[in-house]
Amino acid sequence: MLPVSLILGDITQSCVDAIVNAANTSLLGGAGVDGAIHRAAGPALLAQCRLLGGCETGQAKITDGYDLPCRYVIHTPGPIWRGGSHGEAALLASCYRSCLTLAAEHGCRSVDFPSISTGIYGYPLREAAHIALLTITQFLYSHPEMEQVRMVLHTPEALRVYQVDWNMFYQDVKPHD
Ligand code: AR6
Repeated sequence: MLPVSLILGDITQSCVDAIVNAANTSLLGGAGVDGAIHRAAGPALLAQCRLLGGCETGQAKITDGYDLPCRYVIHTPGPIWRGGSHGEAALLASCYRSCLTLAAEHGCRSVDFPSISTGIYGYPLREAAHIALLTITQFLYSHPEMEQVRMVLHTPEALRVYQVDWNMFYQDVKPHD
């Protein structure tokens, strides 16, 4: 099994089968990575999102990528951080799982994620990194057809936090194990 990779970058530039959008339950756009994805995709993305009827926190819906270099955008509303005792961890894990399941159903073999919920929604980065890497790794174990899953981190600080967790996860994994 190949481990999930970590890169520093802007997910709107990703040439992969699907990128994930850290959306809200309306799926009608917003700030942060959601705003960047809608700007880069063009107005046709919002037009398709309007037909989806929103999305529950922890679930996911898929659209085309329009002017983005990726084929699909998978939209998932992450949990808003409310102290950690309101089911946030389970909901965040559900976001990653739902996106990967939907991607696999659409034949995607490469998926890029932003760090869901860790911007405007206030999820602590360390805890979120752990859930992201654990959930993606669990999925990859049972889906060998998925060739590449990357976390696209937007800041050096986010990359550093994810790297600490990554090193603990994969300390026994050699490249191409
Ligand atoms: N590429 C990759 N990551 C990015 C990019 C980018 N271009 N831009 C920001 N990030 P956020 P949330 C990182 O706030 O916390 C919206 O209004 C950013 O540094 O985008 O899930 C939605 O409509 C952070 O680490 O999403 C919702 O209302 C991560 O993406 C709400 O924000 C997520 O930050 C969702 O909040």
